[in-house]
Amino acid sequence: MAKRGAKVILACRNEKRAKDAMRRIIEETDNKNVSYKIVDLGSLESVREFAKEIISCEDRLDILINNAGMQAPGIRHMTEDGLHPIMAVNYFGPFLLTNLLLGTSYIVHPLKQ
Ligand SMILES: NC(=O)c1ccc[n+]([C@@H]2O[C@H](COP(=O)([O-])OP(=O)(O)OC[C@H]3O[C@@H](n4cnc5c(N)ncnc54)[C@H](OP(=O)(O)O)[C@@H]3O)[C@@H](O)[C@H]2O)c1
Repeated sequence: MAKRGAKVILACRNEKRAKDAMRRIIEETDNKNVSYKIVDLGSLESVREFAKEIISCEDRLDILINNAGMQAPGIRHMTEDGLHPIMAVNYFGPFLLTNLLLGTSYIVHPLKQ
């Protein structure tokens, strides 16, 4: 998408890896309109904050790619939301994010009121 000239926002949990990825994409595509924002998909609060930022900073969002995920057999602790981490990161986080960002092309959005 960066190669095709799109404005791209990487949604990453780790600042250093986000910066590295952003730099690599800019170098490889010569598109400087690539940035990153921090989000932990395993935290519903972080997802809400991220969505709020996108809604307040961007006029519209054309494509959302939900590709982040994890598999870690044997995890016993739950997230701060009381969810199993695999369910939180792979399903609930992306589901909430998608729902919060639905309608970013509409004039009225629940988080904008
Ligand atoms: N590889 C396969 O064979 C395969 C097969 C079937 C399905 N999948 C699915 O495809 C997706 C990508 O797999 P992959 O192999 O590319 O995995 P990967 O190399 O481990 O990459 C997963 C990405 O998700 C990010 N991520 C993990 N937890 C996160 C969190 N809490 N918040 C935000 N980002 C988070 C990671 O960020 P960091 O860089 O910070 O770690 C990483 O960039 C996953 O959903 C996986 O289940 C993969």
